[in-house]
Amino acid sequence: MRIVLVGPPGAGKGTQAAYLAENLAIPHISTGDLFRANISQGTPLGQQAKEYMNAGHLVPDEVTIGMAEDRMLQDDASGGFLLDGFPRNIGQAKALDAFLRGHDLRLDAVLDLEVPEDEVVARIAGRRLCRNDSGHIYHAEDNLPKVPGVCDECGGELYQREDDSEETVRKRLAVYHSETEPIVDYYRAQGLVTTISALGSVTEVTNRAMRAIESAG
Ligand code: AP5
Ligand code: ZN
Repeated sequence: MRIVLVGPPGAGKGTQAAYLAENLAIPHISTGDLFRANISQGTPLGQQAKEYMNAGHLVPDEVTIGMAEDRMLQDDASGGFLLDGFPRNIGQAKALDAFLRGHDLRLDAVLDLEVPEDEVVARIAGRRLCRNDSGHIYHAEDNLPKVPGVCDECGGELYQREDDSEETVRKRLAVYHSETEPIVDYYRAQGLVTTISALGSVTEVTNRAMRAIESAG
């Protein structure tokens, strides 16, 4: 299956993607994670992306589209994938369509995660991530690790993202509304979108997402 996950910052895309990709046995491709890996490895691409990310802006399409396509090809796009955070504007959505057409493939479903703005801000303020695995995601109040600051799954150190300050989150939300929301209508016109509530427990949201994917497939 080829699935796109859309939703505002903090909706739980990364959290859900880890479960959904495992259930469906498809790779989880997050452009945010790819940028963060490049930043921690000190690559030129990472240096370029960092400035935009810390300001809450989108990284330019010239950098992002090529990186996402290379990653899809690494796992052989025909085997399926779960895209998280890509596409993020109409230009990227059109580039993805062209890429898929070029490989004689198409998307199966677009899941749109809906969550109120005050919940987003609370989720991001408490988010803690594992340095070893971007799929190991915690929350300082709702989903605490057993030992403070240490990942339950791998013992890795937990950290807060540089772009998770309240000011940058507000900017990321504004960018989401102006640049990313239009892709929901773009995909709705293709009959691909299911909107699901991202409120409730992580398992409840996963169950909703799985039901939406099953009825799309
Ligand atoms: P990216 O890394 O994609 O960030 P984002 O879209 O802002 O989303 P987040 O990672 O903040 O949130 P999430 O929805 O994954 O939530 P999570 O599961 O962690 O992008 C970062 C930056 O990179 C962008 O601003 C941009 O600069 C750049 N970028 C990336 N892709 C790009 C592209 N295509 N083009 C251009 N630039 C790009 O959950 C959040 C918290 O909530 C966690 O603490 C979690 O434990 C908690 N939580 C999750 N689910 C629940 C639940 N059900 N109940 C309670 N708490 C929950
Ligand atoms: Zn970990």
